[in-house]
Amino acid sequence: MPITQFAHQNGKAFVSSLSKDEQKSLGQFMTPPPIATFMAQRATTGIFSDVVSILEPSAGAGILAAAVVQELLRREERPSRIELTLYEIDTRLKPYLRRLADRLRRAAKDSGVTLSCHIVIGDFLLSALAQSARPEFDVCIANPPYFKLNKADPRAKAHTYAVYGQPNIYGLFQAACASLIKPTGRWCFITPRSWLNGSYFAAVRRHLLHYLHIDALHLFESRQAHFYEDTILQEAVIAWATAQPLRAGEIAFSTSQGVLDLRDAELFAIPTTEVIANDDQMTIAIPVAAGANHAGNDFEEWHDTLATLGLKVSTGPVVPFRSKEFILESFARGAVPLLWMQHVKHTGIRWPIQKKREHILSNAASAWMLLRNTNYVVMRRFSPKEDIRRVTAAPYLAGSLPGEFIGLENHLNYIYRPGGELTRSETIGLAAFLNSTVVDAHFRAVSGSTQVNATELRKLRLPPLESLIAIGNLLPDTPTLAEADHAVTVTLQIRHLLAAV
Ligand SMILES: C[S@@+](CC[C@H](N)C(=O)[O-])C[C@H]1O[C@@H](n2cnc3c(N)ncnc32)[C@H](O)[C@@H]1O
Repeated sequence: MPITQFAHQNGKAFVSSLSKDEQKSLGQFMTPPPIATFMAQRATTGIFSDVVSILEPSAGAGILAAAVVQELLRREERPSRIELTLYEIDTRLKPYLRRLADRLRRAAKDSGVTLSCHIVIGDFLLSALAQSARPEFDVCIANPPYFKLNKADPRAKAHTYAVYGQPNIYGLFQAACASLIKPTGRWCFITPRSWLNGSYFAAVRRHLLHYLHIDALHLFESRQAHFYEDTILQEAVIAWATAQPLRAGEIAFSTSQGVLDLRDAELFAIPTTEVIANDDQMTIAIPVAAGANHAGNDFEEWHDTLATLGLKVSTGPVVPFRSKEFILESFARGAVPLLWMQHVKHTGIRWPIQKKREHILSNAASAWMLLRNTNYVVMRRFSPKEDIRRVTAAPYLAGSLPGEFIGLENHLNYIYRPGGELTRSETIGLAAFLNSTVVDAHFRAVSGSTQVNATELRKLRLPPLESLIAIGNLLPDTPTLAEADHAVTVTLQIRHLLAAV
């Protein structure tokens, strides 16, 4: 049995003895062998020293260290010595790690390599090693635990350099390990993708990028397929990096749904400068959409925002639990349409849909929460992960629903022109742009979240108003996504998409 398989069986046996809550409390989700091998193959490239030292800081049953050893032993030119250091907090895993160490020693000996294995049962983050910043290892490979920590937690206090706001334990592992790699040694982590952006992880990114150059990123798009035996509701990313500070170069990107389609995952080389923001935040933007558009390129050329175009985005004012007396189960006199998320489609507003509570009384008491029946771009605030686009924006045109007012429920955002009105072309053009693949790729690149909130919309760079109007002029009142994309691409001459039109 291959040694990764051996470690996997041990890990599985251990996890099956745990309750779901126990498993969650220490983040004991084990890496399956194909992913361990995938990580190790690239984590060992360029490692050719005679003595190779390897750290797995959150070892579980040690599958990642096993995968690295397996890769090194497969080579024709093997090191003469491999030194493993495995940290694991859970004492119950000690016998499994010991068994693995025996197995690894034997496998190494059979290949003429001496292997030593130092197993430490304890909290890695509180260890002297983790706080030493001594570059001792050629390879660090990890699938760390994931959960939020209190700022007052001793582990957060021990690694304050990587803490801003509420820390996640995995960010502390990433940061602590970054400073333990020898020059030109390799660092490889599989984690949720939330560290790539957002201010909570800015301190982690600054620390990592001070010590490491990111060589490659692989994104698992499915929330479940990568850990096929455990249910993990996170998109995961694998990052490979070399211990040398940020330098010019390229980052190799790939994405797959899960483990099974790794072979089909196309590889893209993207200049580091296009991926890592050159500012204090050092946001790492993943180009995700088909063909891996270089997200950000087009946006950099646009300087407008909703504010500069004289537009505003607000959240639907009808909060159902506070407005019970106005919301009606079915139509009655004096009622006007109330739009919920279900009414908002990429192609426009569909109302009524024979849903309950899609009417709201229009009277003096409810007036403050109603909008004039005029032009708006109405957007869902949340999208299911499976949705083809992150943004669902529907053009709403004046008078297309009955009544002088309409109600928008709180899970919707709407864009309008304060003190004036959006024209038809502006409404259709802006909705088409927001629904486009270009904006979709942008939001997927900058955010792991399925929410596109009002703040993100306010920050979004937009093409000039004339371009949005031109897009609107090309389109019918309820364009399909394909029609909208075509109009956006042609009008904005989006370089990398033009070939496909
Ligand atoms: C996500 S599992 C991964 C295990 C293994 N590396 C793998 O890839 O299958 C994380 C492991 O880290 C251990 N762990 C959690 N907190 C730790 C800490 N502070 N120090 C060391 N190990 C820790 C957990 O007990 C668990 O076994």
